[in-house]
Amino acid sequence: MSILIAGSSGLIGRALAASLRNEGIAVRRLVRPQSAGEGIRWDPTTGSFPSEALDGVEAVVNLGGRSIGEKRWSEREKALVRDSRVVPTRVLAEAIAAQPNPPVLINASAVGYYGNRGDVAVDETAAAGEGFLAEVCVAWEEATAPVAAAGARVVLLRSGIVLSSHGGALRSLLAPFGPRWIAPYRWGLGGVVGRGDQYWSWISLADHVRVVRHLLGSNLSGPVNAVSPHPATHREFIKALGKALHRPTVVPIPKFLLKVILGTELAEALVLYGQKVVPARLQADGFRWNDTDLESALRAALAS
Ligand SMILES: NC(=O)c1ccc[n+]([C@@H]2O[C@H](COP(=O)([O-])OP(=O)(O)OC[C@H]3O[C@@H](n4cnc5c(N)ncnc54)[C@H](OP(=O)(O)O)[C@@H]3O)[C@@H](O)[C@H]2O)c1
Repeated sequence: MSILIAGSSGLIGRALAASLRNEGIAVRRLVRPQSAGEGIRWDPTTGSFPSEALDGVEAVVNLGGRSIGEKRWSEREKALVRDSRVVPTRVLAEAIAAQPNPPVLINASAVGYYGNRGDVAVDETAAAGEGFLAEVCVAWEEATAPVAAAGARVVLLRSGIVLSSHGGALRSLLAPFGPRWIAPYRWGLGGVVGRGDQYWSWISLADHVRVVRHLLGSNLSGPVNAVSPHPATHREFIKALGKALHRPTVVPIPKFLLKVILGTELAEALVLYGQKVVPARLQADGFRWNDTDLESALRAALAS
């Protein structure tokens, strides 16, 4: 089996590639001009695709996209976030669809698809929500359409917060100005932001890699929520984080302060809004999570 990964230098891509290679599965990387490391060069901004990249490939995993939480959301930044997902996905999808035997596509998306849902549980049948992240996810998922039209299997991977201190949403949430922003929590000076009753749907990095590997071998297509079966409220999440760090989390962080730091739209999308996401399709497909306890999963993430 040979797997092509785009966005392979990121948090999930690195862990996925290592897991596949450990089991002797051939991994081919698509690397942009500015990417680190070796692989097949592509520049999605030009619209062209190196056709040899897909020779003998049975599945493509597309994980690329500009980080959503590291810069304030100006209109320009929002365009960069959106285009860095939609444009490469379209280029990749058209190249896959042009193959005589198009490979499977597993394409990243996010639980942001569902918008802000309060305490209403949402599974994959729920409609898209409102707001910038939901709009990005809709366009990102739609960009895969040529692959499904060519008759190949497409999985839309709606990921929740992937727990790792090395990158991804958790680091962005806890470290909007770089990894050291976690310091207030480490010093016992952090706490709940706002009311804390918004839901955060999470998954350990190890389970996320297992989800992708499960999907490579299953027949599922369409949206799949890549989250643990136990979403937590923000209050529960911060309490578990404090326990994992052995620190109190009793100093509340005022909403207005976060909005001043991040800008209102990013603060809402990343921290103050949430979704209680149910991984219904993985459950029905027999997937078993290893990490179902948030505090243990956070402890493991912070220790690695
Ligand atoms: N981690 C999470 O908590 C989480 C949650 C929900 C959804 N997701 C989504 O899942 C995907 C993978 O997540 P991740 O945490 O591994 O992300 P990540 O660590 O930020 O890595 C994303 C990768 O995308 C590529 N990339 C960066 N800027 C780009 C640009 N402007 N245009 C095209 N590609 C660009 C880079 O890989 P190359 O240099 O190798 O191309 C980068 O390593 C992302 O699309 C992310 O939005 C992640």
